[in-house]
Amino acid sequence: MKPYSLPMKLTFCLIVLPGYFVYSQQANWTFTLPESIEASVNSTVVIPCTFSAPEEPGHYLVIWYMIDIYGGNNHSQVFNSEDPSEVSEEYRNRSALIGDGNNCTLRIKDVRYTAWYFLEISNNSFNLSNVEKPVKINVRGCLYRSSCSEWSFNFPRVINALNNSCVVIPCTLTHPDKALDSNLLWLERSPTRDIEVYNNKTLSNIDAMYTNRTSLFRIKRSSCAMTIQNVQKDGQYYPGINRIINAYNLDGKFVTVTVSDVPPKPVIKGAANLKASVAANITCSVAHSCPSILPLLEWNVPMNTTMTHVNLTRGTWELQSKLRYVPSFKDNNRSLKCTATFPNGQKSVQKVTLSIVAQSKRFVVVIVAVVGLGFLLLLLLLLFIYRRKKISHTSESNEMGESPELTYARLDRRTVSEDYDTLKVDYRGKSTRGIEYEAPDYENIQRT
Ligand SMILES: *[C@@H]1O[C@H](CO)[C@@H](O)[C@H](O)[C@H]1NC(C)=O
Ligand SMILES: *[C@@H]1O[C@H](CO)[C@@H](O)[C@H](O)[C@H]1NC(C)=O
Ligand SMILES: *[C@@H]1O[C@H](CO)[C@@H](O)[C@H](O)[C@H]1NC(C)=O
Ligand SMILES: *[C@@H]1O[C@H](CO)[C@@H](O)[C@H](O)[C@H]1NC(C)=O
Ligand SMILES: *[C@@H]1O[C@H](CO)[C@@H](O)[C@H](O)[C@H]1NC(C)=O
Ligand SMILES: *[C@@H]1O[C@H](CO)[C@@H](O)[C@H](O)[C@H]1NC(C)=O
Ligand SMILES: *[C@@H]1O[C@H](CO)[C@@H](O)[C@H](O)[C@H]1NC(C)=O
Ligand SMILES: *[C@@H]1O[C@H](CO)[C@@H](O)[C@H](O)[C@H]1NC(C)=O
Repeated sequence: MKPYSLPMKLTFCLIVLPGYFVYSQQANWTFTLPESIEASVNSTVVIPCTFSAPEEPGHYLVIWYMIDIYGGNNHSQVFNSEDPSEVSEEYRNRSALIGDGNNCTLRIKDVRYTAWYFLEISNNSFNLSNVEKPVKINVRGCLYRSSCSEWSFNFPRVINALNNSCVVIPCTLTHPDKALDSNLLWLERSPTRDIEVYNNKTLSNIDAMYTNRTSLFRIKRSSCAMTIQNVQKDGQYYPGINRIINAYNLDGKFVTVTVSDVPPKPVIKGAANLKASVAANITCSVAHSCPSILPLLEWNVPMNTTMTHVNLTRGTWELQSKLRYVPSFKDNNRSLKCTATFPNGQKSVQKVTLSIVAQSKRFVVVIVAVVGLGFLLLLLLLLFIYRRKKISHTSESNEMGESPELTYARLDRRTVSEDYDTLKVDYRGKSTRGIEYEAPDYENIQRT
């Protein structure tokens, strides 16, 4: 065994193999490993690995581990150079150390899902590991060819939240009928390893940073929406039910929650072009991400307001306060203020200056003219209807009849065919209003 000299090794890594990491926890012992490897399901993966020791390491033990993020970050053995019986059932006969000497390269046959791997090299006096920076094997594709397509997770890709507030990630789930009692999980992506932030069966698997901070926000049974309380840092999350059926594995999807220190400003609408004595609705609305603890909206004027809370979907909610206001010209140039106070105590304010125009005389004249004209038209219409009513009334009561054209005008031989007996014609003889008109002579028409 010919140990490499350290400086040579470093040069080799940095120049020839970018993306590889050199671990040196203990003086003069180093590892060289890739950061991540892309693979497709059921393929064979090789994790290239070399190490250097300051002198002949003699006899040493190599153990490769897999970090099981769907189980509270437990480690299970994938390879053991000394005792193969320690290797987990799942990896037995699928893993092997290839190469010799300072070569710790691992081969895994038939990879099934994305996971993180690290190794430990030790002898009586040394124990070296890359547990803090495991190698990620990204496995694309679904192991259960048919059933994966029956699952889908739908959620937005980006949600903005306010620091120390809560955020609801809307999510809907499509699943096969038989999978009603699945274990719903939400995970947070991380370069080193993903962590469980929500688990609806095994709470103990939830990462300590998220205990008692996550819950389901259930509207419907098929909902997988999650609430996170006290968000403080940006994060990337994805839902799933196991290592294979999850949004990231199935479609590469995740939601990015961005946390802002600056609260959104309220928006005032309806305060422009106000006219004295013409009632207006002025609204102040503010967007937020936390429907469980709403912001507070306040105006600088003591007036009755109506609150509405709207779900804008995609993770944004809007709280709105509506002010019914009858402008008075003396309020012209006064400032109207709306203040939003967020659950974390932060405030943001929006201000507008009221601009109210007095009703001009000309405007009043126009209004009067329009109303007058409308009244006149209405009068004419009533007169017309009255006349009509009178005519039809006389035609019904008078035996001689007066206006048969109303019932006969559109009836002729061409349009009336086999269905004669269903027709009832209201015939009462000739028009007395000078319209010459022949009584129809259809055999089957019942005369009344
Ligand atoms: C590491 O190796 C160098 C020589 O390659 C040696 O001078 C140094 O003392 C070693 N460091 C330790 C902590 O053993
Ligand atoms: C462990 O490794 C060190 C450093 O390479 C070596 O000096 C030592 O002899 C080894 N111990 C055993 C028991 O092989
Ligand atoms: C380690 O061993 C593997 C398999 O034999 C080989 O492909 C690779 O080149 C070796 N790496 C080094 C640095 O020797
Ligand atoms: C190496 O050290 C870690 C903790 O630092 C320990 O858990 C592990 O059992 C050790 N491995 C060996 C083979 O001694
Ligand atoms: C992967 O291999 C397993 C076991 O051999 C098999 O059941 C499964 O259908 C394979 N999946 C794909 C996508 O090839
Ligand atoms: C966990 O959530 C899934 C998906 O919503 C649901 O089907 C299952 O019944 C839940 N399980 C428990 C124990 O609440
Ligand atoms: C103001 O809102 C009320 C109901 O909320 C509505 O009836 C009224 O028409 C609105 N007024 C204006 C001027 O939009
Ligand atoms: C928000 O509204 C959308 C569509 O209107 C609905 O699908 C979704 O379930 C609602 N979300 C919540 C959390 O109410």
